[in-house]
Amino acid sequence: MKQYKVAVIGGTGMVGQRFVTLMENHPWFRLTAIAASARSAGKTYEEAVSHRWAMATPIPEEAKGIVVMDAEADAEKIAGMVDFVFCAVDMKKEEIRALEEKYAKLECPVVSNNSANRWTEDVPMVVPEINADHIRIIEEQRKRLGTKRGFIAVKSNCSLQSYVPALTPLLKYGMDRALVCTYQAISGAGKTFERWPEMVDNCIPYIGGEEEKSEREPMKLWAKIEDGKFVLADGPAITAQCFRVACSDGHMAAVFMKFKDGCRPSMEQIKADWAAFSGRAQELNLPSAPKQFLHYFEEPDRPQTRLDRMLENGMAVSVGRLRPDTQYDYKFVCLSHNTLRGAAGGGVLLAELLCAEGYI
Ligand SMILES: NC(=O)c1ccc[n+]([C@@H]2O[C@H](COP(=O)([O-])OP(=O)(O)OC[C@H]3O[C@@H](n4cnc5c(N)ncnc54)[C@H](OP(=O)(O)O)[C@@H]3O)[C@@H](O)[C@H]2O)c1
Repeated sequence: MKQYKVAVIGGTGMVGQRFVTLMENHPWFRLTAIAASARSAGKTYEEAVSHRWAMATPIPEEAKGIVVMDAEADAEKIAGMVDFVFCAVDMKKEEIRALEEKYAKLECPVVSNNSANRWTEDVPMVVPEINADHIRIIEEQRKRLGTKRGFIAVKSNCSLQSYVPALTPLLKYGMDRALVCTYQAISGAGKTFERWPEMVDNCIPYIGGEEEKSEREPMKLWAKIEDGKFVLADGPAITAQCFRVACSDGHMAAVFMKFKDGCRPSMEQIKADWAAFSGRAQELNLPSAPKQFLHYFEEPDRPQTRLDRMLENGMAVSVGRLRPDTQYDYKFVCLSHNTLRGAAGGGVLLAELLCAEGYI
């Protein structure tokens, strides 16, 4: 397989550090540049992150000596050095949109973790097991941007990365609605307990903008493309409450689902659908794809955040406690690693899909 040169924009942040870590020993991708704000530019990567390194493994040797560049001022230079960029920056939405479009127009594909472009009409938002076919919208986007190579592709929000995969193979029965409560780790806010001591022994029942994303983004993931445009799914309706909980990594969700009249599958059918669910990522045998996307646990106290978030290198989703409900048809719980499958790992898998399908 061809080797691709890669830059991580926002490489000093929580998600950026994950990207840098995932590039170590990646069979296709070679870390070539790292960029962040002007505050970090000019420092070696080691100098820029040593006081806030949040990964369990040490800073990769290959990254330590890379001199961090300025994501905005050095855009042209960076675009000329690499085959594509990963982007995970904490900036105002309109600034992120402008930055990502700048790289795309410099003919440098952008694989983004940010939410800024998720609702841009011709930007695909992709979970490779669910809607890999959406990447063909890139042809429409390239026409708008006037580019040959450059484009923006995004991944969805981390909160929904557990329950949308679990609901997807059940949509065929005719699902009416779902109620979801998420219990989200502090790394989802770019934080560790050292940097957010108020979160120790705490639960905060509010994450700005998260409930709207958790309810709305699934409709784009489940959309169809007709005449070069996305037609959003019109259900099942989702209502969500999102909590920040005292976990370092791993977003859990409690899910209740109701099927349309006469459409309710059996628990055995549901478990069989989960066991059989795979997608383009598995078909193409992408390096970061989990072998088994959804793992069902029969034990009544699983999945657990600490025990199960790293399943298949943090790229699989764990599910458990499927049982009948008195108000809805069924309820269950699910878990995914928010900075791996829900952020950088999901971004790497999307980039692998784009390379394998010839878009990068
Ligand atoms: N954490 C998660 O689980 C998660 C999941 C999904 C999506 N996301 C999204 O990913 C993005 C990054 O999140 P994070 O948690 O990694 O944030 P973070 O830890 O706060 O890191 C932010 C990064 O953005 C850079 N940055 C800030 N202002 C900049 C500017 N003006 N120009 C260029 N770079 C700038 C920072 O550089 P300096 O170090 O130089 O300040 C740093 O590298 C956000 O859009 C977030 O919503 C996060």
